[in-house]
This record gives sequence, C-alpha cells and structure tokens, in this order.
Amino acid sequence: MNLIIKDKNAYVKEDMMSDKLSFPNDFVNRIICGDSLKVMKQIPSASIDIVVTSPPYNLKNSTGNGMKDPRGGKWKNAALCKGYLDHEDCMPHDEYVKWQRDCLTEMFRIIPENGAVFYNHKWRVQDGLLQDRHDIVYDFPVRQIIIWKRNGGINFNAGYFLPTYEVIYLIVKKNFKLAPKANAFGDVWEFGQELNNPHPAPFPVNLISRIISSTNAKIVLDPFMGSGTTAIAAKINNRQYVGIEISKAYVQLAEKRISEILL
Ligand SMILES: C[S@@+](CC[C@H](N)C(=O)[O-])C[C@H]1O[C@@H](n2cnc3c(N)ncnc32)[C@H](O)[C@@H]1O
Repeated sequence: MNLIIKDKNAYVKEDMMSDKLSFPNDFVNRIICGDSLKVMKQIPSASIDIVVTSPPYNLKNSTGNGMKDPRGGKWKNAALCKGYLDHEDCMPHDEYVKWQRDCLTEMFRIIPENGAVFYNHKWRVQDGLLQDRHDIVYDFPVRQIIIWKRNGGINFNAGYFLPTYEVIYLIVKKNFKLAPKANAFGDVWEFGQELNNPHPAPFPVNLISRIISSTNAKIVLDPFMGSGTTAIAAKINNRQYVGIEISKAYVQLAEKRISEILL
C-alpha cells in the first residue's frame, strides 16, 4: 500500500506527526497525508533532487468579492469557488506569506547543491494593483520565471486585460543544470488546463512532465500533491516521487490516478 494516512486535519493538529517517519522507506513513491511543513521537516537535507509544486494561492482572501460568493460572482463557473476539501484558502495575507516562505525554506533545505524548486503561483490584481508574489520569493535565488500560458481565463474586469497566465519560479542552488537540450523549450509554455479531474486546481500532466523531463532529477517532491499529477508525471518519466497532501480524499484520488496510468 502506497498510502500513509496520518490525519486528515493534520494542519491544525500538533500531535499528528508523533510517529516518526524514516527516509527513504516511508517517503519514496508514497503520498503522505499530512501537513507539508511538518512532514518536510522529517526529510533529510539534500535528499530530494527537485521540488515541483503549486501551493494553495489563498484565493479566498481577496479584495474582490467573486471567490466569496459562488452564486453570482465572476468565479461562478470555477471549481475552485467551492474551495479545497480540507483547506480554506483564506488566511490573512501576512500569515499566508509567512507560511509559504517557511515552506520554501524547507523545500530549499532538502535539495542538494545541484537541485531546484519549480514553484508555481498566480499573480492577481488586489485593490487595483498587481500582487506579483515578490513578498514570498524576494530573497530566494530565483533564476528564471517560466510563463505558463493557459487557455483563456475567468477574471474579467473592466480595469485590466484578462489574465491568462500563471508563473513558475525556477528557484535554484548554484550548480543546477537542465537536461541536455531542454533549454530550447524557451520560457513561455502553452498548456491547456486539465479538464477531466475532480480536483479543483490540478496541473495538466504534460506541464509537469515537461518540467521533470527537462531535468536530470531522480527523485521529485511535491509537498502540495493534490490529485497526484506530479507523481504521475514522475512515473511517466521513470523517476521516483515523494508526495505530501493534507486531504485524505485527494490522497485517495491521487492513488487511484497513479494506479490507473499505463506505462
Ligand atoms: C493547487 S492544489 C495542488 C494541485 C496539484 N498540483 C494537482 O495537480 O492536483 C494545492 C493542494 O494543497 C493542499 N494543501 C493545503 N494545505 C496543505 C497543507 N498544509 N499541507 C499539505 N497540503 C495542503 C490542498 O488540499 C490542495 O490539494
């Protein structure tokens, strides 16, 4: 069984990680159901080649009204308006920034001197001005920003053009190098959203497969694993994965998707 269920509400419980996990046996090719920060603290330094992840964006903490009222707002067709099953996505902004910086600090600790973190996020307009997530990443070594161009968008607003892209921060330790010839992909990537996935905010498999296949990584961590896309892309590319996800239901969805891929 590739599943360790610790506690579906692990984020708020102090005692959930009292059982010590041991690396690599409890981690490799498994998805651990628990709080990413607490679980990452049990991963030894320099033991994971790359991290590929998309955290919750804190979308429900918004100066716009749409995400708060799915009955009439501009988000009414977006699956995310119902939120995640076990995470409210509505922290005070300062608390959210601190949480994400703490998570990035752990991700950075567990990669080696040739490792990298691919950190996907979304910029948005708040109070009429761009919120570009600089406050999360400003003192991490960002080497590049990859633009993930999606199909269309939903944030129609008379004050600005329709946003259609997300960003992937490539945060590196100094010896990180791409796989041979991968640099030719350029830094603007066009991939349509994943449509056949009950998770509210899944990555498209091809996007993550592009990232993983562009590196020499043998082992890939996603500390916000959701429906298991990073694990699927790792398997497709013959790499190992480590997953962490707070929601037991999403862990089960991920396990089902992983078991169904045909290689
Ligand atoms: C943007 S989604 C990731 C989706 C994923 N990339 C996929 O393809 O399905 C963020 C995920 O983080 C999870 N999450 C929220 N808080 C968490 C925490 N403290 N620890 C671990 N996972 C958490 C949510 O349940 C959600 O599934």
